[in-house]
Amino acid sequence: MKQLIKYGTVVTASDTVQVDILLDGEKIALLGENIVPTGDMQVVDAKGKYVLPGGVDVHTHFDLPMFGTVSSDNHYTGHKAAAFGGTTTVIDFVPMDDLSLKKMIDQWHTKAEKAAIDYGFHMNITKFGADVLKQIPGLLDEGISSVKVFTAYNNNMRLMDDQIFEVMRVAAKHQMLTMAHVENGDVIDLLVNEALAEGHTAPIYHAETRPSWGAVEASLRAVALSAMAEAPLYLVHMNAGGEVDQLAYAKDHGLAVYGETCPQYLFFSTDDLRKPDGAKWVCSPPMRTKNDADRLWDGISDGTIDVMGTDHCAFYFDGRQSINYEGVPIAIPGKELGIDDFTKIPNGLPGVGDRMPVLWTKAVNTGILSFNQFVAINCTNPAKLFGLYPKKGCILPGADADIVIWDPDKQVKYGVEVAQHRTDYNLYQDWLLTGFPETVFLRGRKIVDDGNWLGERGYGEFQYRKTFSKQM
Ligand code: URP
Ligand code: ZN
Ligand code: ZN
Repeated sequence: MKQLIKYGTVVTASDTVQVDILLDGEKIALLGENIVPTGDMQVVDAKGKYVLPGGVDVHTHFDLPMFGTVSSDNHYTGHKAAAFGGTTTVIDFVPMDDLSLKKMIDQWHTKAEKAAIDYGFHMNITKFGADVLKQIPGLLDEGISSVKVFTAYNNNMRLMDDQIFEVMRVAAKHQMLTMAHVENGDVIDLLVNEALAEGHTAPIYHAETRPSWGAVEASLRAVALSAMAEAPLYLVHMNAGGEVDQLAYAKDHGLAVYGETCPQYLFFSTDDLRKPDGAKWVCSPPMRTKNDADRLWDGISDGTIDVMGTDHCAFYFDGRQSINYEGVPIAIPGKELGIDDFTKIPNGLPGVGDRMPVLWTKAVNTGILSFNQFVAINCTNPAKLFGLYPKKGCILPGADADIVIWDPDKQVKYGVEVAQHRTDYNLYQDWLLTGFPETVFLRGRKIVDDGNWLGERGYGEFQYRKTFSKQM
């Protein structure tokens, strides 16, 4: 089937132009001024609308067992929420609960059989040994070209510096990108034990025991390790202002180091964890200060920060109460597990659907970001860094027809109902948004139209990603 998107303003990472887009089946066939429709084309009128590439969120955790429960959005419900917010491709992390990476990847493929949008995987490397190192190159055969390491979660997911260095070296040798979660695991453990011994149980102690200096220190440590290993590096979920300084330092030194932040670090602070429902804001790394958020905004505006992710890892606020999801009552244990002990609050937040609509209102409408910067950080840069470009993240002939028709005038009172995540709360509850996705195409198929879900379980395709290449 041919579809012609006419009269819209196409926004890419570099241009804002009035062109029509011809879709042929699953692909973009042609861009051109005033393409004349023929009888075999269905015309989609985008007058007064912006036409963007589908969003690419490279940081999600669907159906992830942790804290004695499981993150409440799975590879269908989370994908559906993503689509409503304009995102058509996600990359999810495969945990390393087994020493066989292949076994874990197969498990994740089974979970993702219900995928509703396109998706890829990163591999967590959270156990170390010669046998683990040996398996890393084989990830490429699985279509996985990025690994994640942690400097925190001692005795659990953390690797020591020499081990991270070795992972980076092997990854670099095979043109893979190493991602790093950077906090100071030793200091966190000490502070957590002290807080518990003093009887501190409230959510705010989650933030108090994870100081931002630990994130700053560990980000420079990861940068230095990557420089010594001659490996490209991607700092995930940057949250502290000082991390932006370290990223700028790395870039100034010509290193292939890239950074991601997430909306929660721009709009909230540790003060939110002091509220009676502060558990809603518990994630790792934690919220920081207004000064940190300001520095993150500067880093996005001046291009130091490359990508907006979400770290979507949803839990219910009160998982004892069911919510109605597609007509079925569903209850999944959530933040209430930590009601008497902040260390037992499942770490993570919903966000995959919020990212683009919230940023449009708060950053594009306010002039902080240009339309093109918005597309760069949400669509094109993540696709480039993670081996999806130019299939994803752009509007070019030959690319997948993943397209969002964005209505800049649509006013929305945002919140849990609109967001469609499978959880009982939303961080942006009752925020007034102006500008929202109207129609979302995934490989040429309309999956969201005017607030209606037209997608389906199993339509999402696994993306075999290319190796890392320095495209930016
Ligand atoms: O709190 C979070 N972010 N949970 C997900 C795990 C991670 O470190 O990204
Ligand atoms: Zn992390
Ligand atoms: Zn994460």
